[in-house]
Amino acid sequence: MAYEMILAETHGPTAVIRLNRPKALNALCDQLMAELGEALRGYDADDAIFSIILTGSEKAFAAGADIKEMKDRVFPDVYLNDFIAKWEVVTTIRKPVIAAVAGFALGGGCELAMMCDFILAAENAKFGQPEINLGVIPGAGGTQRLTRAVGKAKAMELVLTGRFMDAAEAERAGLVSRIVPTETLLEEALKVGEKLASLSRPATAMAKEAVNRAFESTLAEGIRFERRLFQGLFATADQKEGMSAFAEKRPAQFTHG
Ligand code: HXC
Repeated sequence: MAYEMILAETHGPTAVIRLNRPKALNALCDQLMAELGEALRGYDADDAIFSIILTGSEKAFAAGADIKEMKDRVFPDVYLNDFIAKWEVVTTIRKPVIAAVAGFALGGGCELAMMCDFILAAENAKFGQPEINLGVIPGAGGTQRLTRAVGKAKAMELVLTGRFMDAAEAERAGLVSRIVPTETLLEEALKVGEKLASLSRPATAMAKEAVNRAFESTLAEGIRFERRLFQGLFATADQKEGMSAFAEKRPAQFTHG
């Protein structure tokens, strides 16, 4: 598929998907989301790729779902076609997906970033759920993921008032893993990609699954799940290699088995 609204390229073991609708601040229309889903699925299936970076421009990660495309939609269409269901591809990817966010991440843009495994924020990043100004509410997980990420008080304020949070506030609140200079955002994300590519694939996939399980289960169930995965890793060659390499004071060479 030739993409029109995203740019997809690989940097060694890391795929970079750049949302690319600059005139609309990367508003997330159906075509863009279809292209994004296809690119994500393709890289997830590609053995040469270890992780995926999702980014936008310096001005906007994404300013939300495309309001102009949505405005005349009626309930039966929105309900039956459930266009938001297609966005959830992001949450089904088994490789790490890093959101590298500069500029606006608003509405569906913030929700898309929150569907990724973690968010690296540029100093100029701005996060918000301004749907209330449009007479609606977040519809792609914003009320749930933002609340889990930053707690009720801040999530409620942002969702009720539409106020934007800058990168510093987002970091204090725990929405982003860290802040980097805007000019080096991609470089920093690619460094994470390099690190991820040096690690064991099964351990990486299980680590991702286990952390995600924390949001879907009780503490006791989550811990039981983690324990089984941890024990299961002792069946892998990568566990033998990783621990032997440590003991022998040499770098590990994982074979992903
Ligand atoms: C469609 C959008 C858009 C959007 C910006 N544009 N955001 N088009 N949908 N979400 C378009 C503008 O219409 C404009 O097009 C161009 O991008 C540049 O935007 P400006 O407003 O001129 O830029 P600026 O003055 O810098 O303001 C930036 C902004 C503002 C603060 C981000 O654009 C804004 O408030 N955007 C909407 C943010 C929002 O409400 N997001 C939530 C959407 S609802 P023209 O043609 O005039 O140049 C949502 C629900 C998700 O996301 C639910 C799940 C699907």
